[in-house]
Amino acid sequence: MLEALLLCSFILPLLFIFFRPKSDAKLPPRSYPLIGNYHSIYANRHRLIQWTSDAVHNSPTLTAFLRRPFGQNRVITGNPAVVEHILKSNFSTYQKGLNSHNILFDLLGDGIFNVDGDQWKLQRQLSSHVFSTKSLRHFVEHVVDTELNERLLPMLTTAAANDTVVDLQDVLQRFAFDNICKMAFDYDPACLTPSLPHATFAVAFEDAIRISTERFHTITPLIWKIKRVLNIGSEKRLKEAVSEIRQFALKIMNEKKQEVDDTSSIKTVDLLSRFVSSGHTDENFITDIVISYIFAGRDTTSAALTWFFWLLWKNPAVESEIVKEINGKLAADGSVYDEVKEMVYTHASLCESMRLYPPVPVDGKTATVDDVLPDGNVVKKGIIV
Ligand code: HEM
Repeated sequence: MLEALLLCSFILPLLFIFFRPKSDAKLPPRSYPLIGNYHSIYANRHRLIQWTSDAVHNSPTLTAFLRRPFGQNRVITGNPAVVEHILKSNFSTYQKGLNSHNILFDLLGDGIFNVDGDQWKLQRQLSSHVFSTKSLRHFVEHVVDTELNERLLPMLTTAAANDTVVDLQDVLQRFAFDNICKMAFDYDPACLTPSLPHATFAVAFEDAIRISTERFHTITPLIWKIKRVLNIGSEKRLKEAVSEIRQFALKIMNEKKQEVDDTSSIKTVDLLSRFVSSGHTDENFITDIVISYIFAGRDTTSAALTWFFWLLWKNPAVESEIVKEINGKLAADGSVYDEVKEMVYTHASLCESMRLYPPVPVDGKTATVDDVLPDGNVVKKGIIV
């Protein structure tokens, strides 16, 4: 441990001075003894997604190797055959893994995004009902429709009439948050109301995600672990933020338990009612689920929509085509659920927007055994891909 600290505090700064990293360093990234590619990673820390995308593009196989200090090497791929190999054909070989579990545990606990095996399977099976055609139709026709007509559209109409500038990303995050809470827990946090109430929960959630993600980028996990033990800096803030998030999740859980106790038959089809009424009442388990679902649905949908509208603003011709298509396909009664399937241009535009600006740009898995990828690259056990 002492050696590691010495290395961090003494040798690494010297290496940085000698090699003077530049953020526009040419790719493929150069690798040095001991620190691997770390000096390029550090220099590009403000643009890591773009930098790793460039590294992938510059590799003939579309798979790049990142060498990090202390053996924390990473394989990064943008090769569709490799992605299929990892996420589908060899699903059991590539798991979330212990390292990732430890990094994300403070925030996600044992929620679906942070577990493997039977724990994952159970949550996946219970969740699958939410994605049935019946549930999705109910979600679109009742939850989203109400949120749109009673909250989002009136707010934007008023802003347009008064020539007020709105922070569209903030508005869409509120929109997504209300929707996901109503869909998954049948709970209305009413974030997208005209006064735009200050959402301490949202700030806590953003901080917790940012700090948890930063843990992946530290030169050695020792750094964040020491800060956590000492309860200082970002780790102190993470602890506070997670406590706030857990209190919120607990509130939702207690209301749901009460509701399920009071009703002999379940009236709602929301995810949380299913979990609670199927006998899963452990407080930690339920709060982990609540947090995972907010994590799943809030920033993904709102990031996708924010980039989409930004791209439409930059491409008015595409906007006109979309408006034309929607007006042409809309049913006389205004229903849209079946009609959207015919909106091919709108669908393609959304796909292109998510290709250019992926709402989930990184999805990491750990190899549980040595493996050879379809592009011929060798992956060693324990490596994060
Ligand atoms: C634009 C919107 C969205 C995007 C881009 C997106 C993307 C993703 C990605 C990349 C994964 C990881 C897949 C994997 O590693 O195999 C994932 C998992 C998941 N997403 Fe989404 N998502 C979106 C919206 C939602 C919404 C609205 C929900 C609703 C609750 C949701 C629920 C989930 C769940 C439960 C999982 C875990 C699945 C599992 O581990 O089996 N997502 N999503």
